[in-house]
Amino acid sequence: MFKILITGVAGFIGSHTCVRLLNLGFDIVGIDNFHNSSHEVINSILKITNRKIVFYEADIRNSKKLCEIFKKEKPEAVIHFAGLKSVAESVEKPLEYYDNNVSGTICLCRVMEKFGIKKMIFSSSATVYENSNPPFDEESQVSAPKNPYGKTKFTIEQILFDLKDWDIALLRYFNPIGAHESGDLKESPLGIPNNLMPHIINTALGKMPFLTIFGNDYPTFDGTCVRDYIHVEDLSEGHSKALDFILNKKGIEVFNLGTGIGTSVLELIKIFEKTNKIKLKYKIGPRRLGDVAVCYALTEKSQNKLNWKPRFDIEKMCRDAWDAAL
Ligand code: NAD
Ligand code: UD1
Repeated sequence: MFKILITGVAGFIGSHTCVRLLNLGFDIVGIDNFHNSSHEVINSILKITNRKIVFYEADIRNSKKLCEIFKKEKPEAVIHFAGLKSVAESVEKPLEYYDNNVSGTICLCRVMEKFGIKKMIFSSSATVYENSNPPFDEESQVSAPKNPYGKTKFTIEQILFDLKDWDIALLRYFNPIGAHESGDLKESPLGIPNNLMPHIINTALGKMPFLTIFGNDYPTFDGTCVRDYIHVEDLSEGHSKALDFILNKKGIEVFNLGTGIGTSVLELIKIFEKTNKIKLKYKIGPRRLGDVAVCYALTEKSQNKLNWKPRFDIEKMCRDAWDAAL
């Protein structure tokens, strides 16, 4: 069976993808520096799958360590999740973001090239479409987003497009939420969360007195922002399909991973309350700088070329996220 190296394996999406690939029979070498995760996740992966991964606590910017790992493990392909992902933090610490995300990816690619491994799946973001008009397909215009986080994704995409003899699936995620059905894996960022679902969960748990909705004066049907939420389990399946794709095909391809369904912030709150029979306290606050009103995907390309179709609805996303939090 193929051996796949996963960077950021202890993170939210990396851990779910790792479990799926182990269950499909792949051998996994995992790397993480635990900047935004903990060792507990590695134990959860073993608990769920009853299979061990070869794990290295390592930073993707440590070229020497990466060389040792590649020399010993000889993976066939890399799924590259490791990165910093907070827009607000990136505005405060741009150099940290450029260093970790851009320099880290260059370091990883150089080591891959040295060992003749030129197959990669990269975690990009729908943020690269932010100056275009929704819904977005893979041909929609991309440009450098305004914030450093978004710029790192855009820059890495441009770098990867220049690697002509590589096989790369460049996956643009929309808004991953939900959790593994076992409840043993979930989105558990260290420190203050940035995204909406962790805030909803913290409000429901009473860790936060109320949720702030960032603006209700957008040009949408209820005034709050619309996003394309996708279950992390569907997202992880997208990665296994993308892996089949790069293991069999040549060149670089971009794929959207979303459901194509838009849900507003208020709708998501209502669905979470109804599905989980819980009341959420919320207030309307000012708009958050940099938010776009509407963001959702057209997913025909992923469905046709990857033979992938998301299966889980927004109720299931809310239920699994809450069950895993309890
Ligand atoms: P996450 O923070 O849960 O996981 C990222 C993991 O990478 C963490 O475990 C972290 O410790 C590790 N890491 C960070 N820098 C590292 C480094 N230099 N060396 C080794 N490990 C390092 O984030 P996630 O939600 O699982 O996201 C995974 C990827 O997908 C990220 O690149 C992110 O930017 C991208 N993405 C996420 C979303 C989302 O909404 N979650 C949306 C679009 C794109
Ligand atoms: C954000 C980032 C995006 C990144 C993605 C994954 C911005 C502008 N975009 O996407 O670049 O790829 O996270 O990390 O930050 N909301 C509230 N209250 C909250 C939190 C969020 O109302 O407490 C709203 C936001 O205004 C937004 C929606 O919920 O309309 C979703 O927010 P979030 O989960 O942060 O995702 P995005 O903004 O879509």
